[in-house]
Amino acid sequence: MDKNSILEKSNSQLTTSNTQRGALYNKYKSKIIHNPCLDRTLVSFQANKETQFSWFKYREGFSEKLVTYLIDTLKPKPGALLDPFAGVGTSLFTASDLNWQTIGIELLPVGVFAIEAKSNARTIHVEALSLVINQIQTINFSDYYDQQYAFNHLAITSGAFPESQEVELVGYISYCKNHIQDISIRNILLFAAFCILEDISYTRKDGQYLRWDYRSSRSRGKKEFSKGEILLFKDAIHKKLAQILSDLSNKDAVQLDLFDPKPEKGAFKEVNLQLHQGTCLEIIPTITNNSIDFVVTSPPYVNRYDYTRTYALELAFLGCSEDEVKRLRQTMLSCTVENRDKRDILEKHYIQINRYDDFIKIDSTFNKQGALQEVLGILETYKQQGKLNNVNIIRMIRNYFYEMSFVIYELARVLKPGGVIAMVNDNVQYAGEEVPVDLILSDIAESFGLTTKYIWTLGRGKGNSSQQMGNHGRSELRKCVYIWEK
Ligand SMILES: C[S@@+](CC[C@H](N)C(=O)[O-])C[C@H]1O[C@@H](n2cnc3c(N)ncnc32)[C@H](O)[C@@H]1O
Repeated sequence: MDKNSILEKSNSQLTTSNTQRGALYNKYKSKIIHNPCLDRTLVSFQANKETQFSWFKYREGFSEKLVTYLIDTLKPKPGALLDPFAGVGTSLFTASDLNWQTIGIELLPVGVFAIEAKSNARTIHVEALSLVINQIQTINFSDYYDQQYAFNHLAITSGAFPESQEVELVGYISYCKNHIQDISIRNILLFAAFCILEDISYTRKDGQYLRWDYRSSRSRGKKEFSKGEILLFKDAIHKKLAQILSDLSNKDAVQLDLFDPKPEKGAFKEVNLQLHQGTCLEIIPTITNNSIDFVVTSPPYVNRYDYTRTYALELAFLGCSEDEVKRLRQTMLSCTVENRDKRDILEKHYIQINRYDDFIKIDSTFNKQGALQEVLGILETYKQQGKLNNVNIIRMIRNYFYEMSFVIYELARVLKPGGVIAMVNDNVQYAGEEVPVDLILSDIAESFGLTTKYIWTLGRGKGNSSQQMGNHGRSELRKCVYIWEK
């Protein structure tokens, strides 16, 4: 396509072609339905405030209520549930409590550590934990400081804690590692410290990077930033341990098995969860055909959000080196301008697993997706005109859909006939140009034999109409849950 042909001048305003996107909108418009049962809070981590085990604030998480709603509405009969972007395991724990057998895949050690800690918490001896926590209240953490456990800073976390507080943190870690014999209790204590790293630091998580408070030695930028109260380590850790203990001892929170005639007091239902750490691009291909009833997931959005920078403190706490963080950043589903193309890696992988035909099929489906090629073409023209604030945005969008094509193909393969996928995702806009993520992914899903049942929208309504999808500056973008069926 001649790139200039997609740009027209009308009334001295630049308007762009949206032929392909318009056609896609018309194809799916009857499926785009505002669902009043889904509001923004239900789809965000915020709705978990009231629920138990919400100790670590994972901003990208969705809520237990959303998962419960999806199960009740779409697949009430338990079976096998898969979440290939498991995060801190919201869908896995919620479904497991509703008697589902669950399989999760998560790349970042942050989510994996949180999932392991939460499963471990369910089997912990609460009275023993309570005794240890009482003992901890009497301790001066800095007395236990040991250089051996010094915080393993990354370049982007160095100076994140007031010095005296870092000494206390390291003393606490050293105390846990040397004086707590029970591994489950030790892990919960370490998890409590992991949960409060941001609270005791000069930093605030801010999507693409960490923001630094003006009191830190690193604060730069023109505008002074204050994150408000920075908690003392001892106050923060006692508060977090009290919260954990209270949740674990809360009788109302006890999950009893209805079929167990003599449930043990204080016992939580055992979690039926199989967790794989690594990239879902490699792990879903290892799952058997037609074996999954329900996929409930939320991939990263194509919004430049950098998980590896946002969770740098937590990655450092878990011992990740600079190289490991870089490797994780590149392995993640492409959603930042730094992500490089994974085509060669995927091609080699599919050759290795003797499924090169599938690779070709996925690759060509991606290349044939007209609406996507239309947006990429327009953005390319903007790039040449110097209108794109980062030229790698095009590469990011291309790579995102390329990799998602593999994810969707594999999900369609592992799903049983009649199985359902519920995917939470947001549309995005670059240089005022809408990328209808919901329509493009639904179309790719249909190429792989799935049927789009609904594109449920949240918030105010249906988002842009077909006419509005060109360059419209600050227009409303759909936030959706897509429901696809096999
Ligand atoms: C939107 S979050 C999911 C949050 C989750 N629904 C929850 O409630 O915690 C997306 C997750 O995908 C993970 N992720 C990104 N790329 C991945 C990949 N290639 N394989 C597996 N997980 C990946 C990220 O680390 C992140 O935790």
